[in-house]
Amino acid sequence: MSGDLRAAVREASRRLAAAGVGSADVDAVALAAHALASTPAEVQRLMVLGAPEPEGLDELVEERARRVPLQHLTGRAGFRRLELSVGPGVFVPRPETEVVAGLAIRACEGFDAPVVVDLCTGSGAIALSVKDEVPAARVHAVELSGLAVAWASRNRDDLGLDVDLREGDATSAFPELEEAVDVVVSNPPYIPVGAVPLDPEVRDHDPELALYGGSDDGLAIPLAVAARAATLLRDGGVLVMEHADVQGESLPAALRATGCWADVHDEHDLTGRPRATVAVRAPRLAP
Ligand SMILES: C[S@@+](CC[C@H](N)C(=O)[O-])C[C@H]1O[C@@H](n2cnc3c(N)ncnc32)[C@H](O)[C@@H]1O
Repeated sequence: MSGDLRAAVREASRRLAAAGVGSADVDAVALAAHALASTPAEVQRLMVLGAPEPEGLDELVEERARRVPLQHLTGRAGFRRLELSVGPGVFVPRPETEVVAGLAIRACEGFDAPVVVDLCTGSGAIALSVKDEVPAARVHAVELSGLAVAWASRNRDDLGLDVDLREGDATSAFPELEEAVDVVVSNPPYIPVGAVPLDPEVRDHDPELALYGGSDDGLAIPLAVAARAATLLRDGGVLVMEHADVQGESLPAALRATGCWADVHDEHDLTGRPRATVAVRAPRLAP
């Protein structure tokens, strides 16, 4: 690498682009910010001032060029208003899931103290954002992977957000909350089995448990999670579930076919792709 910061960032961006990193310019600045224990805005300022290249930037760029996720190198992932700690063993929260969390937050409107459950919480991104943006909500979250639970509980403690976090299976979680929940939100694993992601960051670094939906169409686990949501929600409660862009018709259709859901519709993410199904718990028939 060359001696000054501006040249080092330019060279980093070139190397990352050559390695197939789509966001090479942004990542180069983010890695420089991490090496300087500073912010991207400060890096831009220091580049204008002709500051020297920080120690460690070369090694960070080398790792990123080997397609280690940016967030694993910085240890941080921004999600809505929060900065989360992430690393090996936990799914890195995605921008499209910020929209899904927003739908859950919108579903809380009109309640004084909604009971909210996040099934498959990973780093805790959705559950913690709901608690951050709807402070009166009583938020519960469950996650199967012990490693992911450790990241989520670190995030909860660092952020000081009061979320009931448990290790366990989403398909049988929270027996004490059956028919008592106002909003269930979930970003479950939904990639069709056999559809191995092309991006090395996802394929080689996100946990398998976080990716694959357990069937050829990827919907086995989402539908098992939705069945649990149907048990947890009170009549009229709302389910918000993320899905793959190719599941924008199949997931709503599968939910309608169960007879448990009313007002089933699909929502798009900020790139205009089908991303989340929203459904209302249909009234249970009198015994
Ligand atoms: C796609 S990731 C989403 C994580 C987080 N909600 C987010 O949006 O960033 C799916 C998560 O579901 C967890 N998971 C998979 N099967 C589960 C199950 N049966 N019960 C609970 N969690 C499960 C995985 O370990 C992973 O953390």
